[in-house]
Amino acid sequence: MIQMAVLGFGTVGSGVVEIIEQNAHRIERAVPEGLHVKYILDIRDFPDSPYGDRVVHDLDIILNDPEVRLVCETMGGKEPARTFTQKALERGISVCTSNKELVAAFGPSLLKTAREHNCSYLFEASVGGGIPLLDTLLSNLAQEDITSVTGILNGTTNYILTKMESEGADYKEVLSRAQAMGYAERNPAADVEGHDAGRKIAILSSLITGKNVGYEEIHVEGITGVTMDDIKAADELGYGIKLLGRCCVTEEGLEVITAPFCVKKSHPLYPVRDVFNAVLVHGNMVDDIMLYGRGAGKLPTGSAVVSDLIQMARADKPLVIRWDEEPMELVPFGMQKHCFWLRVENSIVDRVLALFTDSTELLHQDFSDFTVIMTGPVREDDFAQRTAGVEGILSVLRILES
Ligand code: HSE
Repeated sequence: MIQMAVLGFGTVGSGVVEIIEQNAHRIERAVPEGLHVKYILDIRDFPDSPYGDRVVHDLDIILNDPEVRLVCETMGGKEPARTFTQKALERGISVCTSNKELVAAFGPSLLKTAREHNCSYLFEASVGGGIPLLDTLLSNLAQEDITSVTGILNGTTNYILTKMESEGADYKEVLSRAQAMGYAERNPAADVEGHDAGRKIAILSSLITGKNVGYEEIHVEGITGVTMDDIKAADELGYGIKLLGRCCVTEEGLEVITAPFCVKKSHPLYPVRDVFNAVLVHGNMVDDIMLYGRGAGKLPTGSAVVSDLIQMARADKPLVIRWDEEPMELVPFGMQKHCFWLRVENSIVDRVLALFTDSTELLHQDFSDFTVIMTGPVREDDFAQRTAGVEGILSVLRILES
């Protein structure tokens, strides 16, 4: 059997172990020797777990065992995950991970270490949970010029937004439910403030360009400012509000953003509900492709980790992912153009309309307590300048154009 270790026995790590045991018969079709979890590294003990006897607290036990060929890192966070991954790769042990924080921050350097030590570093589970997304982009769509990727990339926020829309549920109460189901990050601010989706679009942008799109270079907004009034007004006007990660090749260059967008009910991303993620990819030859599946949770994310383990176990040479350390230059955020949605107090409608008289497709709709104004495409810096200091703007969102 191929001996392996799991680093971190939390939600995803325990899912990986469960899948390897429960679906051993399926895994053996792809890897006839079978996968065997020899060690589980965690700071805790698990005396009640059937796998409790495999728990170790010292990474060196794993690294010094010549039988161990594969490691999966499901610890999350930057440290000690980075050091542990680095050490395993330096020993020539292939590593896969679900840790998007680590991959977004250190993907190119860990891939370089893997190349230097003739092993692989894979991270299918880091974006889109159980959706086989990265391998699709890197293998099946390798022949394409990918011109845009637009995705619902965070299960927790999609769950919150859809429960607010369908049940009128309270934001905090739905967030607690998402936490209880193992969807949310340890610190859920990473979900609701958009950082998790931002890291995922940084990884996707890096993979489609082959250069490094730094997470810190991306404009990120979360859903903490989205209110029930926004959700209800959007619904009445034929839209839903979704937290999107989007990268798009325009005449100016590569534009990347993470923010809540109003998405038309006719758009394929609109019906994506609850913890599901979906990613709409446009290739210059294949046109539009959409991938859909559970974006978080123990077994869906664990399944994507196991798919990497199978790939690494089957490979007779290291698997190469091209993601260079060279930084990718992005179109500055201020130069990106978006259509805006403003929810404003009724008393300032004329003032706001006057700011955008040159805007094509300027629309407005009165609700009893407020008015929604929708603009045509306006540059971000221009929008910020025009609306600076205007009191009575209750919320600002962007509208997904296509
Ligand atoms: N907290 C993440 C989410 C987990 O809700 O999508 C999966 O990356």
